[in-house]
Amino acid sequence: KEHIKEVQAFQATTKEQLEEFRIKYLGGKGVVKEIFAAFKSVPNEEKKAFGQAINELKNASEEKVKTLQDALESKEDVKGIFGDLTRPGAPFEIGSRHPISLVKNQILDVFSTIGFNVSEGPEIEDDWHNFTALNLPEYHPARDMQDTFFIQTNPDTLLRTHTSSVQVRYMENNTPPIRTISPGRVFRNEAISARSHCIFHQVEGLYIDKDVSFADLKQTLLYFTKEMFGKSKIRLRPSYFPFTEPSAEVDIYWGLKTETDYRITKGTGWLEIMGCGMVDPNVLKNCGINPDEYSGYAFGMGIERIAMLLYQIGDIRMFYENDVRFLEQFKSSL
Ligand code: PHE
Repeated sequence: KEHIKEVQAFQATTKEQLEEFRIKYLGGKGVVKEIFAAFKSVPNEEKKAFGQAINELKNASEEKVKTLQDALESKEDVKGIFGDLTRPGAPFEIGSRHPISLVKNQILDVFSTIGFNVSEGPEIEDDWHNFTALNLPEYHPARDMQDTFFIQTNPDTLLRTHTSSVQVRYMENNTPPIRTISPGRVFRNEAISARSHCIFHQVEGLYIDKDVSFADLKQTLLYFTKEMFGKSKIRLRPSYFPFTEPSAEVDIYWGLKTETDYRITKGTGWLEIMGCGMVDPNVLKNCGINPDEYSGYAFGMGIERIAMLLYQIGDIRMFYENDVRFLEQFKSSL
């Protein structure tokens, strides 16, 4: 009776467990055989009941083996169709954002919190939007500042040398107040080296409204450098751009803590990160904005340069080679 209870309660999750069970009860030296051997020594009047009990145990054991076998086999069938459902999933590779995109998004985020929208324009430009409207008429010597890839001359079609061309388009199509950031790819006919490339990325900013002053520009740039680099010391050095007057280069105080700091700041601790200035009244006029009513500032920076600083990348060419070992290092960044 005890054996019957045990048999009825038995469950198996593997074929091996079931086989063990079968051998235990129905095998050559199994429980059923053992009890059957004892049958001889049972007194005659108990033989009938004893025999029934043995048969009951035998039948119960056989039935159990059969039902569990069927159950395990249908499980195997499921495995055959769907694979092992209990197996851990296969690992899959997720990609990473390119460091240029990471830094670009970071710059756009900083400026969006102070009300700048994002504008984009074509990479193939005409002479007007890349040069003439920006106070760089034909034969102006400052055109040599940016070696240009021409696609066609007369009328000139070229690969834009800066995203200031987007600002021209934006001013032509919108009325002040204007607060816009123009990110994009730009092209210059320069020798490729560790420090410069013929293709790179810029983010330029433009702010036009009534009574915009140089102080507004400086404060905005200070806010930007604090948010972007955690550095709160900047200096503006007088410079020249045809489209801004006055113009300046922006340096941040990077400090001198590591050997790399000495190398990238040439030992002064100061690092140039962008150009800026007050939009030249001629440029406003060219774009249909009245310079007597409005004024504004503009600034522009190279994304590669900023990414190189933030991630301590020593060679600009790494950005374009797309070596997975390089790209993988940015996986943890958002
Ligand atoms: N367009 C300039 C360049 O490409 C950067 C700049 C933008 C400078 C706006 C001043 C104002 O170098």
